[in-house]
Amino acid sequence: MPEIITIDGPAGAGKSSVAKEIAKRYGYLHLDSGAVYRAIGVVCSERGVDLNDEKAVVECASDLSVELTDSGRVLVDGEDYSEKIRTLEAGKLASKVAKFREVREIVVRILRKVAKGRRVVIDGRDAGSYIFPEAELKIYLTASPEERAKRRYLELLRKGESASYEEVLREVLDRDESDKRREFAPLVVPEGAVVVDTTGKTFEEVMGIIEGLIKNK
Ligand code: C5P
Repeated sequence: MPEIITIDGPAGAGKSSVAKEIAKRYGYLHLDSGAVYRAIGVVCSERGVDLNDEKAVVECASDLSVELTDSGRVLVDGEDYSEKIRTLEAGKLASKVAKFREVREIVVRILRKVAKGRRVVIDGRDAGSYIFPEAELKIYLTASPEERAKRRYLELLRKGESASYEEVLREVLDRDESDKRREFAPLVVPEGAVVVDTTGKTFEEVMGIIEGLIKNK
C-alpha cells in the first residue's frame, strides 16, 4: 500500500470525507491541510490582523503553533479551534491567507513534520503537486459546482448554520476561482494524478473506485 496518498480538488468535492474513510479503513493518519489554513485565517483575523496585508499575515502565522492531533483536532497555541474553523466565513479567511507564498511555506513545514515516518492520507489543493510531489498515489477528486454547493449547503444546515444554497454556490465558485488563479501553488491536477469525478455518485461508489486505486498500488 502507498505510504502517502494525496487527495486534491476544488471545495466541496468530498476530499475530506474520502480521506477520513481511507484513514479509518486502512489505518492511515489523516492530514487535513485546509484546516491549517482555516486555523491561521481565523486566529489572525481574531487578532485584528488585516488579511490583505501580506507582511502582517506572515508575521502572525509565523508566531503560531498549529498542531493536528491523531484524533483530527486542530490546536492553535494549545487551544482547540476544531469547531470554530468549520464555518463558511472561516473558509473565506483560509482562502485569503492561502494566497501568500510564505504562509504556504509555513503550512507545508507543519504538514511535512507531522507526516514524517508515518503513513498519511492528506487532502488539500496542492497536496500532490507541491506538498508531497513524491506521493505514490495522487487523486484529484472533483464534481460539478452545483453538486459541490449542494453538499456544502446540506453540511452547513446539519451543523445548524444558516445559509442559502445560492450563497454557498457563489462561495464555492469564488473559492474555485481564487484557488486556481493563485500565483503560487495554485489548484491544478497534479502530474500523475487519477481524476475521479464524483458527480452523481454515492459515497460508497466513490470509495469503491478509490479502494481499487489503493489496492493496485
Ligand atoms: O479544504 P478547505 O475548504 O478546508 O480549504 C479552505 C481553503 O484553504 C481553500 O479554499 C483554499 O483556499 C485553502 N487551501 C489551500 N491549499 C490547501 C488546502 C486549502 O490553498 N492544500
